[in-house]
Amino acid sequence: MEGIQVRCDKLQGGVIQRSRLRVWFIRVCSSIVLWTCLVQLVTVSELWHSHFFLGISSRIYHTNQSPLEAQNELAQPPPPFLPARNYTSNGFLRVSCNGGLNQMRAAICDMVTVARLLNLTLVVPELDKKSFWADPSNFEDIFDVRHFIDSLQDEVRIVKRVPKRFSRKSGYSTLKMPPVSWSNEKYYLEQILPLFGKHKVVHFNKTDARLANNGLPLDLQKLRCRVNFQALKFTPQLENLGQKLIRILRENGPFLALHLRYEMDMLAFSGCTHGCSIEEAEELKQMRYAFPSWREKEIVSEERRSQGLCPLTPEESALILQALGFDRETPIYIAAGEIYGGEHRLAQLRAAFPRIVKKETLLVNDELQQFQNHSSQMAALDFMVSVASNTFVPTYYGNMAKLVEGHRRYSGFKKSILLDRKKLVELFDMHQNGTLPWNEFSNAVRQVHEKRMGQPTHRRVDVDKPKEEDYFYANPYECLCEGTKCDDLLGPLNSSQIR
Ligand SMILES: *[C@@H]1O[C@H](CO)[C@@H](O)[C@H](O)[C@H]1NC(C)=O
Ligand SMILES: *[C@@H]1O[C@H](CO)[C@@H](O)[C@H](O)[C@H]1NC(C)=O
Ligand SMILES: *[C@@H]1O[C@H](CO)[C@@H](O)[C@H](O)[C@H]1NC(C)=O
Ligand SMILES: *[C@@H]1O[C@H](CO)[C@@H](O)[C@H](O)[C@H]1NC(C)=O
Ligand SMILES: *[C@@H]1O[C@H](CO)[C@@H](O)[C@H](O)[C@H]1NC(C)=O
Ligand SMILES: *[C@@H]1O[C@H](CO)[C@@H](O)[C@H](O)[C@H]1NC(C)=O
Repeated sequence: MEGIQVRCDKLQGGVIQRSRLRVWFIRVCSSIVLWTCLVQLVTVSELWHSHFFLGISSRIYHTNQSPLEAQNELAQPPPPFLPARNYTSNGFLRVSCNGGLNQMRAAICDMVTVARLLNLTLVVPELDKKSFWADPSNFEDIFDVRHFIDSLQDEVRIVKRVPKRFSRKSGYSTLKMPPVSWSNEKYYLEQILPLFGKHKVVHFNKTDARLANNGLPLDLQKLRCRVNFQALKFTPQLENLGQKLIRILRENGPFLALHLRYEMDMLAFSGCTHGCSIEEAEELKQMRYAFPSWREKEIVSEERRSQGLCPLTPEESALILQALGFDRETPIYIAAGEIYGGEHRLAQLRAAFPRIVKKETLLVNDELQQFQNHSSQMAALDFMVSVASNTFVPTYYGNMAKLVEGHRRYSGFKKSILLDRKKLVELFDMHQNGTLPWNEFSNAVRQVHEKRMGQPTHRRVDVDKPKEEDYFYANPYECLCEGTKCDDLLGPLNSSQIR
């Protein structure tokens, strides 16, 4: 302000038409002074306000923090565990989880819940070592097993192994069986519980989707959430490296996590070869035939694609992100294993978004080395980063996408763009053949996804097709608005509202 005053004095020393000019100059000067003061005042108050609002929003954020983020706050003492529940156990439940990391994660939550319902003692779940990923990791290589056991002790007893006295030598036989998919509590109470009277140890050798999405008592639904959001913590090694990745990414501001499920197993399994060469399509087909557990062998790729059943290609993903309005400078973390076709297939995406990174480029080699040959541990890192990202975009709606979506809803409904791939394929093709110019394409893409951003909503229920209704773990709304008016947030239950 002093500087302005000095310049005004000089101006006032002007020669011509002194008096009129002087009045004019004084007016101009004083308004400049006034304006400057005003601007400074506004700036100060803005600063004050933004601190004020930051305070509030970080507090809101804090209460909505996911356990993954909350854990990393060094100042927080570990939560005290509640006293162990005293109940008479009806027997031991052994479970062998099948599938990848996230399918197993959901299953673990379900199995704890079944054990609680039936008053069983749960044996720490065995993880799948024979699936496509052939990861030899045990439960304790991925999850903090002590925390898992202790934090659930007020609900269910969990032991590391079945006591010797129940071995076959002592005259006990273990019953091995897969429970019926999508079952409710009545099935477990009426069909499964009696089996424990006879066998003492029952071994579920398949665990995916064994519990219904809907219609279970609220306390069971909440227990599923408690296991998912609080009892299942990754090991400190995984947790530390995941947090390091998140720190590095956040240093450069907001980032998007793209779950680019364009990996060889996915393409071989789904038969989606759009954009692949003839040789690649043949290679994928051979891989499909080589895997007995992938039962469907003859697949017409374009049919699949038009039904919305294919993962987006890297090229399609680039177009979508551009259409949704993400600019070139957006940092994009690719949450995925090896992209089929390698760097070559990423060229178009990289040209559109040069700031593409993945864990291999953010960390030095020996940091990742101990996890490298363990696909589930690598997936755990991607899981943490995806949950923490500012925007999450999965290119295929598989278990990883669904579980991350659920965690992001739990962390305060963070934006997850849930692509409508069936609609997108139509739009792509029309844009490709020139019937839909860019602006219209872009508008249409935005419009389709306006209500598919992970906003609060009820799950869509379809009693006859549990596989097709909204997945519990993608939107466990029973657990998302405790203490607030859930109905206000969600609106009236309306089964025609999809996501
Ligand atoms: C558990 O409950 C039983 C029966 O109510 C009781 O006899 C026993 O003392 C309790 N055990 C503990 C450790 O509280
Ligand atoms: C489980 O134990 C509780 C008491 O702790 C009892 O009320 C309940 O009926 C038991 N349920 C089953 C299925 O055994
Ligand atoms: C589970 O056990 C049953 C009975 O032994 C067997 O028939 C079935 O093939 C097993 N399933 C798996 C996935 O191991
Ligand atoms: C991972 O597996 C590959 C192939 O089996 C092997 O060459 C490599 O040495 C392994 N890396 C580590 C860190 O164990
Ligand atoms: C463009 O593609 C769309 C969608 O596949 C199709 O319906 C339309 O007939 C095509 N138009 C032309 C001119 O090829
Ligand atoms: C349910 O939602 C649809 C679409 O949002 C709307 O048209 C319909 O009126 C709603 N029904 C009820 C009962 O709210």
